[in-house]
Amino acid sequence: SAAEAQSSLSGYNCPSSCQLPKCKCATSSPPVANPPQFLLVTFDDSMQTEIMNSVVYPLFANRRNPNGCPPLGTYFAQVWDANPFELTKWYAQGHEIADHSVTHVSPFAGSYAEIEGMRAWANKYAGIPLGKIQGVRYPFRNYSVTSLNMLSKMGFLYESSMAAYGSSGESIWPYTMDYGVVSDCLGQTSACNNKDLQAPGLWEVPMMQTVASDGTLHLMDPYNDPSLTAPYSASAVTDMYTKAFDALYNGNRAPFGVYTHPVWLQSIPGAGANAPIPDGTQKMKAVQDFLTYAMSKPDVWMVTHQQLIKYMQNPVPASQLGSQSYMQCTKPVAPPTNICNGLSNTGVDLCSNLARGTFQSCYGCPGEYPSLANPAPPSQKCSVPTNCDTLFWNPATCTCLCTSTSCAYNDTARPINLDPNSLNQYLPGGTPVSNNGTKTNAATPKSGASPVLVSGILGMLMLAFGF
Ligand SMILES: *[C@@H]1O[C@H](CO)[C@@H](O)[C@H](O)[C@H]1NC(C)=O
Ligand SMILES: *[C@@H]1O[C@H](CO)[C@@H](O)[C@H](O)[C@H]1NC(C)=O
Ligand SMILES: *[C@@H]1O[C@H](CO)[C@@H](O)[C@H](O)[C@H]1NC(C)=O
Ligand SMILES: [Zn+2]
Repeated sequence: SAAEAQSSLSGYNCPSSCQLPKCKCATSSPPVANPPQFLLVTFDDSMQTEIMNSVVYPLFANRRNPNGCPPLGTYFAQVWDANPFELTKWYAQGHEIADHSVTHVSPFAGSYAEIEGMRAWANKYAGIPLGKIQGVRYPFRNYSVTSLNMLSKMGFLYESSMAAYGSSGESIWPYTMDYGVVSDCLGQTSACNNKDLQAPGLWEVPMMQTVASDGTLHLMDPYNDPSLTAPYSASAVTDMYTKAFDALYNGNRAPFGVYTHPVWLQSIPGAGANAPIPDGTQKMKAVQDFLTYAMSKPDVWMVTHQQLIKYMQNPVPASQLGSQSYMQCTKPVAPPTNICNGLSNTGVDLCSNLARGTFQSCYGCPGEYPSLANPAPPSQKCSVPTNCDTLFWNPATCTCLCTSTSCAYNDTARPINLDPNSLNQYLPGGTPVSNNGTKTNAATPKSGASPVLVSGILGMLMLAFGF
């Protein structure tokens, strides 16, 4: 169409004063000559033990980045229906936890309470240091100008919900939104060239689309996309990924990704009626075959979003990536194995008889299920403090077992503040942000009352359908 022929960069004005490390203009040009090819393997929604073990970890197993370190990925985690101990384990292995809201329920999907509530819960019940939760993917990828402004004010480093056009058009490298948005300009958002967008320092990490053989664009879980005529073979999905990857690898090397709702990589009886590939084994094979292909190429790295942004802040040629500090294997010095730290489950609690079911946590059990109004209820065990990282914290004895500078940690992130109207005290000059992400002067935040409850597998499927 005419719209698609027009560049999403037209009308975008980014001044030369926009300089790294804080500011980066959007462009399809690589930041240096001969950059590495980054591969972002991401997961959305509830972290659950069975899915982690059957789907998520196997995608990383038996792979290595070019410097010999384990490949890493990012999980955009929600609170409801999750097992917080799975967040602890994921984090303990060097992977990244990002924010995907508390309830994942529209229309509160992007509200302040949803985004801040997830931080509060992940810190309290999974022991994730606040400073390590730096990114957001909006539920349903439903961002807006006001919600992007809100993330910037909240101190987030990046957002990653917007589609970029991959091999069918422009392939945008990550950029900061100081001067607006250029991803998703061809249809999905009013954020493009919107002068109300003021998100200084907030990076956008675009999601690259793939193109099926019929020319249609696909973003998340293409092996389940009902618009692909069933039956669609696993090899056709691998080909779709491979073509999009090759175009970038042989082109501007903008970061590519495999964006999954991991529950969708399983076989789910009754849920696959419209899925082009109903068989979970075949879906996994499609993704595994692609990852094996991509990782066989020189200079291809599976990284977290935070590693990618470290790179963007100080880009180097592919040959120098392996020696950058943020690419070293994140092995803690003499990790204590007798505490519940994600490497050991000694002392993990089973929290049951709660409204939305059972979960595990190293940090004790709440008296009520986490909710939008009360995402991190009190427990009997000690939360990870700001001066100790998760691997060294013993939540049962409230002691930090780190005794050397190599494991010292000082978290300087903004403390949890569940009252959006007092956010200003941390952000000089900031504008109050209402509970739903709208700038406001009102004193009373909206409550998240009466969300549509979804539960169990059905809930996960609904979330997956709607992103
Ligand atoms: C998207 O957000 C808007 C508010 O910004 C809301 O009205 C709408 O219901 C949301 N849609 C979904 C699918 O969450
Ligand atoms: C942690 O960092 C803050 C901010 O840089 C600093 O003020 C504080 O003294 C540090 N705390 C420790 C224990 O190093
Ligand atoms: C957000 O809240 C404000 C103030 O209560 C209201 O005016 C606005 O319509 C709400 N926006 C959405 C998208 O719900
Ligand atoms: Zn989601």
